Amino acid sequence: MKVLAVMGCSKFGNTTEIVKYFIKSLSQKVDIQVEYLYVADAGIEFCVGCHNCIMLGEKKCPHYQKVRLVEEKMMSADTVILASPGYMFSVTAVLKNFLDHAAYNCHRPKYFDKKMILIGNFSKWQKKGAFIPMESWASGAGFDIAGKFFIDMMPFPDSENVLNKKRETIEKAAFKISKKLISENPRKLKFGDVAVFHTFKVLSKIAPNILIADNEYFIENKAFDSETKWYIKTKVPILYHWAGKLMEKIVKRQVIKATDMEKLKNVKGRHVTRLENNGN
Ligand SMILES: Cc1cc2nc3c(=O)[nH]c(=O)nc-3n(C[C@H](O)[C@H](O)[C@H](O)COP(=O)(O)O)c2cc1C
Repeated sequence: MKVLAVMGCSKFGNTTEIVKYFIKSLSQKVDIQVEYLYVADAGIEFCVGCHNCIMLGEKKCPHYQKVRLVEEKMMSADTVILASPGYMFSVTAVLKNFLDHAAYNCHRPKYFDKKMILIGNFSKWQKKGAFIPMESWASGAGFDIAGKFFIDMMPFPDSENVLNKKRETIEKAAFKISKKLISENPRKLKFGDVAVFHTFKVLSKIAPNILIADNEYFIENKAFDSETKWYIKTKVPILYHWAGKLMEKIVKRQVIKATDMEKLKNVKGRHVTRLENNGN
């Protein structure tokens, strides 16, 4: 099994140590070939917020050639690890910057046949803020999340006792995650997964000239056909499907109420509303 560790950290710090120890524990249970990719090495400039990736397609991103290299590596792996220390109660800027560049995947997911492992180096106080960007990106992009864990490895020397507990936490996580990696069970959908599908689908239908790439993606994937329940053919609980369809109607009604539908007809791509000059 090919594992790609996408490292949102420095090469010589504690996060690297955690990931290496995890890989060592995991490799005792599963046959894996691992490659480390430090996101900082990709040299991706900051996202400029042009929205091209979301609206016109990822190839229109000014930094596409660099983002592409990371994404191609992800595509060729069976399992991806996302790892980050906690910086300001979130992930590192370098990882967040990559996630911003890859955020379009949450509109047009493609990683359906891959598993994801999330690893954090932070205290329990940072857990929520740091896991939210990693987990929402991974599940939005289509990954099946095989597991996540965090360890608090601050830049202080731990006592042997504390260190042993940390090793044990990593080993236990590796054991649990190894079972998920081997499992043939398909990804279990949460209502959130189904809700996102219906939301982007209906938005791209209302504004096909703004969400151009999304609309093409949904047409290609036959998402507008009445029998299509998710991006790909998979088991969607009937209650989620009905609730998703209802959500579509509510979103449609609210968006139409809040939008100038006449002006919308003449917009192509991203629209910026001028707050002065009657919004034109
Ligand atoms: C810029 C920066 C911001 C940080 N923010 C936090 C924080 O908000 N809360 C916290 O507990 N630790 C914070 N830390 C500490 C790191 O999470 C901690 O030192 C971690 O072990 C670094 O991982 P590394 O050794 O892999 O680089 C911060 C460190 C840096 C360099």
